[in-house]
Amino acid sequence: MAMLLSNFTPLMTLSWRALFAFEHIPINQLHGSSTPSDAQKELEFFFPEEHTFALIKPDAATHKDEIMKKVKEAGFSITNVKEQSLTREMAAHFYKDHEGKPFFDDLVNFMTQGPSVIMVLSKENAVEEWKKLIGPPDPEEAKKTCPKSIRAQFAHDILANAVHGSSNIEQAERKWQSKYCQHF
Ligand code: CMP
Repeated sequence: MAMLLSNFTPLMTLSWRALFAFEHIPINQLHGSSTPSDAQKELEFFFPEEHTFALIKPDAATHKDEIMKKVKEAGFSITNVKEQSLTREMAAHFYKDHEGKPFFDDLVNFMTQGPSVIMVLSKENAVEEWKKLIGPPDPEEAKKTCPKSIRAQFAHDILANAVHGSSNIEQAERKWQSKYCQHF
């Protein structure tokens, strides 16, 4: 390798491109983003991040440290977190897709019985990865099919099932951008 260095050029005065340039090859060996907005675009291209909405329910709030440790070990960043007791209005709005189902009133009662831990999680493919980490809604099924999942380890039953995860990216965005989640 012949570097473009004269014997008299002090190394400290050379840029890295000059230091690592190959003779007769007019290319740059190193790239750096030109502007902050280029940097953002280039980062999103190589490290595509998705956000999802996650909630530790009142029955599992006492295990929040263990659950958050698992979340981090699974490679998520916890971009936002707060602990909050849901009002009946908030719980009913949060689960409005389940209104009319036989368990709806029990669900609202359960969700308002103590503080929840509300999080925005970020990772590549975050929505699907979080669903995988929590396991199926019924802990009996979770114990059989995904014994290491959060619900297998911390859920009590299909109602008090420890954690919530959005089903898809649209629902995740709706939940963490809704006016109710701005209280969170
Ligand atoms: P979650 O994944 O947060 O979404 C809807 C919630 O409704 C679910 O977790 C449970 O807490 C609750 N749920 C779903 N199915 C039933 C059921 N059959 N009986 C009681 N609660 C349920």
